[in-house]
Amino acid sequence: MSATAAREDPFKPAARVAGQRQDVWSIVNEAAAASPVQPIVNMGQGFFGYNPPKFALDAAKEALDKVDCNQYSPTKGRPRLKKALANAYSKSLGRELDPETEVSITTGANEGMLSAFMAFIEPGDEVIIFEPFFDQYISNIEMPGGTIRYVPLHPPKDGATRTSSAAEWKVDFDQLEQTINPKTKMIVLNTPHNPVGKVFSREELQRIGALATKHNLIILSDEVYDRLFYVPFTSIATLSPELYERTLTVGSAGKAFYATGWRVGYLIGPPHLVKYVAAAHTRICYSSVSPLQEASAVAFEKADGEGFWDQSRNEMRAKVDLFCKVFDELNIPYSDPEGGYFVLANMASVKLPEDYPFPPHVANRPRDFKLAWFLIKEVGVAAIPPTEFYTDANAHIAEDYLRFAVCKNDDVLETAKERLRGLKKYITQ
Ligand SMILES: Cc1ncc(COP(=O)(O)O)c(C=O)c1O
Repeated sequence: MSATAAREDPFKPAARVAGQRQDVWSIVNEAAAASPVQPIVNMGQGFFGYNPPKFALDAAKEALDKVDCNQYSPTKGRPRLKKALANAYSKSLGRELDPETEVSITTGANEGMLSAFMAFIEPGDEVIIFEPFFDQYISNIEMPGGTIRYVPLHPPKDGATRTSSAAEWKVDFDQLEQTINPKTKMIVLNTPHNPVGKVFSREELQRIGALATKHNLIILSDEVYDRLFYVPFTSIATLSPELYERTLTVGSAGKAFYATGWRVGYLIGPPHLVKYVAAAHTRICYSSVSPLQEASAVAFEKADGEGFWDQSRNEMRAKVDLFCKVFDELNIPYSDPEGGYFVLANMASVKLPEDYPFPPHVANRPRDFKLAWFLIKEVGVAAIPPTEFYTDANAHIAEDYLRFAVCKNDDVLETAKERLRGLKKYITQ
């Protein structure tokens, strides 16, 4: 018998994709599709409920008419986009960036981060991430063989009884330093943070930066929500020339211009880091979508003149305020975001009926999965259970919270509020 024929299951998937548990997106989306309340108000996934600004859309349409925009772009990105980003970020990072060596375009921030891990992580290397985490980090780190060390952000102790600033989710710096060991190669930061809405303070970044310098770590700073901040925002790369030298800053044109489906992301950093990210990116997907890179270039060129950044920040903050009024009304405490477009509401006071028929794949998950299921079925609003963004050991930290994405039209937010008022009868104060 040949070796192939002897294999028990020729179609056995690799462990990295086999996945034992159903992922949160399919649980929530399937439940939403089957809910008796239709159409469901989906505040789960962080996609926008409206189009990019006209100047970006027009640029995308025009790009399709240009011959070179329909062909391969250079692997590190279209020169026009690298230049537009170098201009935009020379301002925000406070240093003159070289578009040729300090900027690289990727297929969304996500593939950019995969490329960064592929570039620097060897099997056995360790990467520190904070919990809750953006779920893609996990597979992106594990694919090149990295081991993840988790450091939880600690919510305010009275988060179940008091609305508080997302700033109150804190890093335990002793815990962070104890997690660092000779195998630690990288630390991943996310600011403004998904799902907490925290914007790391300058002082916190200085402490993280000092540890990274002391232990010689690369910092991967995921700043995809960098245009949406409601308190002063600092990029760790700006804190000192030494920190710039060890930091890869990640951005997303998709998040910046309400175009998550365009899949245009970028990494900015010193040449000695960016060149290897670009090398990995070349092997993963060669280059990224040409016409939408061109459109992103035009959008970055025009955004300041259009007053778009201020407008987008003000509009998103207004959405947070509009939506959160319902939690104020219901006396449901929440974590008031300092940036981004997610709100974590603490549903500890919502009493789920004891005999409620949760299906097994929800019944065996933490309480937030049951809350999410219940809201979908009984109220008609979909939100994300944030324990999905925790290890099992730390999931208890977030099991009373639900994450709501407010990047939706105001009428959708109003419908969501109206429906959430239906929770009143389940609230015990
Ligand atoms: C924290 C964070 N990083 C990265 C991404 C991915 O960005 P992109 O759509 O550009 O790949 C997301 C998307 O939700 C995110 O929330």
